[in-house]
Amino acid sequence: MAANSVLFTGISELRTVSNGTLENAALATENGQITWVGEAAEAPEAAEVTDLGGRAVIPGWVDSHTHMVFDGDRSAEFEARMAGQSYEAGGIRTTMEATRQASEERLRKLVRGRLAACHAGGTTTVETKTGYGLTIPTEVLAAEIGAELCDEVTFLGAHVCPPEMDQSDYVELVAGEMLEAVAPHVGWIDVFCEEGAFTYEECKKILEAGRKKGLVPRVHGNQLGEGPGIALAVEVGAASVDHVTFPSDQDVELLAGSDTVATILPGADICTRHPLAPARKLLDAGVTLAIASDLNPGTSNTSSMNWCVGTAVLQGYLSFDEALAAGTLGGAKALHRNEVAGGLDASGRPAVGTLSVGCAANLHVLNTSHAVDLAYRPGMHLDYATYIGGTCVYSAE
Ligand code: NIG
Ligand code: FE
Repeated sequence: MAANSVLFTGISELRTVSNGTLENAALATENGQITWVGEAAEAPEAAEVTDLGGRAVIPGWVDSHTHMVFDGDRSAEFEARMAGQSYEAGGIRTTMEATRQASEERLRKLVRGRLAACHAGGTTTVETKTGYGLTIPTEVLAAEIGAELCDEVTFLGAHVCPPEMDQSDYVELVAGEMLEAVAPHVGWIDVFCEEGAFTYEECKKILEAGRKKGLVPRVHGNQLGEGPGIALAVEVGAASVDHVTFPSDQDVELLAGSDTVATILPGADICTRHPLAPARKLLDAGVTLAIASDLNPGTSNTSSMNWCVGTAVLQGYLSFDEALAAGTLGGAKALHRNEVAGGLDASGRPAVGTLSVGCAANLHVLNTSHAVDLAYRPGMHLDYATYIGGTCVYSAE
């Protein structure tokens, strides 16, 4: 028995996501990875035992789409929207101004606070984007802070054109010097392909430049209306196209025939009073689905994956297991962190999003014996503890 082995017992229900649900289960870990999963009665011995007291365990949420690095407040914009104004991409500039003025220390502190909230809500893997600096030094800083504190970082220089620049000059900058400076700190490149932000041609140019630097594309697409975002994502082999609130039938077909994950962001749909992305239709067509929070001050000021996943069940017509898989394994696929073999992802790291042997011991322990309560008891505080790589990062007690 290894000195650092831990056995988690008292699991009323273990939703592994990859290998179904076990009742009266136990799970063993060593060095941050899962070493055994099964019936409590057959559990191996371990150096330490943690009794979870009859609670349900699911994989930690994989929040594959957030905008963590920002300063400033847009509650007035939100209030005006609730009084009838519509959302426009230009609101991003308000946050850009506040973020440019924030000190490095302040930004770091803000991100740390947001991450603590993620952990308290059961999230164990977080992607963040740049995109509220929009100058070379401020985008580099956001990327550095993201790389230091989050799991995955995405360059989103193409969020909106900053007011001091001409659109075509800015596209040149993003695809050139800015990319050059940010690329060493990030693994992904994203574009906001939408009216009021960037066109298909501009986005394609930026994503192709990113590819040449070794960054994998992602796209914000079809958020505010039908448009070329989804088709572009499939064309460039993006890991994910996010929002997909307004896909055409052809877009759904394109996605179904591709490896591009469709990431739905119920927080953004609801907080902009848009219809929800057609999750049921996408899944029925054979599209791989992820659910993420889109935490940002403009369209989705929440990191609650419990709420996003619960909403996808209640209003997006997904079954609980489908939504659970989208918020865990789906997010892992969107970040290439899913299990490929032996619990490891394609780069040989412990995989996330599922609870099987070899995967990261990222656990979300619920303060209830049935995980479905995340949808059945909406808005209730159901988070009991969160473990990342076997280490407790949040405990309600
Ligand atoms: O994902 N769509 C682009 N970016 C964010 C919103 C940004 C903002 O309004 O500040 C989103 O919804
Ligand atoms: Fe976003």
